[in-house]
Amino acid sequence: MFKIPISKPNLTQQDFLEIKKCFDSSWISSKSPWVEKFENSFAKHVAKTKYATSVNSGTSGLFLALKALRVGPGDEVILPTLTMIATVNAITLTGAKPVLVDSASKDDWNINPDKIAEKISKKTKVIMPVHLYGYPCDMEAINSLARKYKLFVIEDAAEAMGAVYKGRFVGSLSDVSCFSLYSNKIITTGNGGIVCTNNKKIYGLINKLKFFDYNSETHFRHKIIGYNMVLSSLQAALGLSQTKSFVKCLKKRRQIFSWYKKALNHTDLKFINPDKDSLPNYWFPTIVAKNKLSKTKTARALTENFIETRGFFLPIHLQPAYKNDYSKEHYPVAEYFFERGLLLPSYYNLMNYQVVNICRIILRSLVN
Ligand SMILES: Cc1ncc(COP(=O)(O)O)c(C=O)c1O
Repeated sequence: MFKIPISKPNLTQQDFLEIKKCFDSSWISSKSPWVEKFENSFAKHVAKTKYATSVNSGTSGLFLALKALRVGPGDEVILPTLTMIATVNAITLTGAKPVLVDSASKDDWNINPDKIAEKISKKTKVIMPVHLYGYPCDMEAINSLARKYKLFVIEDAAEAMGAVYKGRFVGSLSDVSCFSLYSNKIITTGNGGIVCTNNKKIYGLINKLKFFDYNSETHFRHKIIGYNMVLSSLQAALGLSQTKSFVKCLKKRRQIFSWYKKALNHTDLKFINPDKDSLPNYWFPTIVAKNKLSKTKTARALTENFIETRGFFLPIHLQPAYKNDYSKEHYPVAEYFFERGLLLPSYYNLMNYQVVNICRIILRSLVN
């Protein structure tokens, strides 16, 4: 229906051949050399962590990371209100209470570390920052709070593969991190997720939890209550092949962003500049309109020209599923971004002339 969709996976003949190799081996469940090879390749080339363990979604990854840190009823987990619903759902599913924090400022949609400090209580166990739209959070401030109050940090890096913070890769900056491998991510396994850590104990626990605490020696005797949240080998074969083109795909995202930035020079539009020590992955180029009406007009103009866009996430405190829990709380900065923010198309095969055309439509929408 759209001439230019917001996103498209970059699927190649090489990907197909790797999947076919796996298919021909008949080893299509989660037990195969492909799963381990993919995990090792992701840890080495993307997250830059010692360990990575694949799961069936980014959401499962967040949930299992929380379970591995023994988060449950009576605990509190701090997260930004401006995020995708998966972040908060993972917390809710453990029985813990999600505690919301506003975005940092009108120039930074990520969680505000000063406001995190105000929300820390005796029940707080984890801070879960989200590197939203591939922009790294202020991890130094967050980790320093965690050290001070003896809390764990789980990075929700679902959207942020390849983003860099102070010379280090996002996903390697905390106790444990989770990436999504859904088909709109820079590399994909269709659906899927991967949990990364430098902590052997956390890694070992997640491996147990994700597959019934199954073990080839004790077989069907299980010491802990586990889940079935594994990635299949066919998906891992795709993931393995995709990790090989990760750097190329990441570079292209950054190049596409630079095309938008060059062509969209207008006082009514704002790009968010990253912190000077950060390099976002620019998963999706984002623009912030001057007001809600202006955003709606731009989005409508693009849709009428068969170009797909997305608004920013509805903050958690306004989500129908959660709003009763937070009805007395106010998060004006997150609402500012929700009202004005728009994501623009970005995918490996998007061409410069297409971006120029998208930008022309956007600029025209600002005149009318
Ligand atoms: C910020 C954030 N967290 C978590 C997730 C959940 O990932 P998945 O869709 O793989 O379950 C997403 C999804 O893209 C996300 O954007």
